[in-house]
Amino acid sequence: MKSLAFLLLVAVLVDGIVFERCQWARTMKNYGMDGYHGISLANWVCLTYWESSFNTAAINHNRDKSTDFGIFQINSHWWCNDTQIRTANGCHIMCSQLLSDDVSAAIKCAKRVVLDPQGIAAWVGWQVHCKNQDVSKYVAGCGLD
Ligand SMILES: *[C@@H]1O[C@H](CO)[C@@H](O)[C@H](O)[C@H]1NC(C)=O
Repeated sequence: MKSLAFLLLVAVLVDGIVFERCQWARTMKNYGMDGYHGISLANWVCLTYWESSFNTAAINHNRDKSTDFGIFQINSHWWCNDTQIRTANGCHIMCSQLLSDDVSAAIKCAKRVVLDPQGIAAWVGWQVHCKNQDVSKYVAGCGLD
């Protein structure tokens, strides 16, 4: 019982959710991600699957002391402020905002990241698992075509 209470507390504090694949695909489509900067919805779903498994609360620490935040695993050295390291803060947000179950800030920031010269290749998960692959299965059965 104590541990359940603790888990509930953590869930409330972290305020994150794990999307179901098609629910996430639909959400991104509603935010105008299908075809954004020439990138198909299937590529965005593939990218976020490999980066975070669609978990808005995902946090991963890098060897250079930066941290990757949220469903897009956006990096604290370049894009958001985690108050821990020097940051260019390209998205002008606190990194904690990228962990919210309200994904509007995370999607807005991902749209900014992909405008940089390296584009979607900024995401290693996309390079390794989605680039030059048939990514249609990531939106298959979602009723989006
Ligand atoms: C990051 O946030 C801290 C705390 O609000 C603030 O003092 C600092 O100036 C911010 N840094 C940048 C680069 O935005």
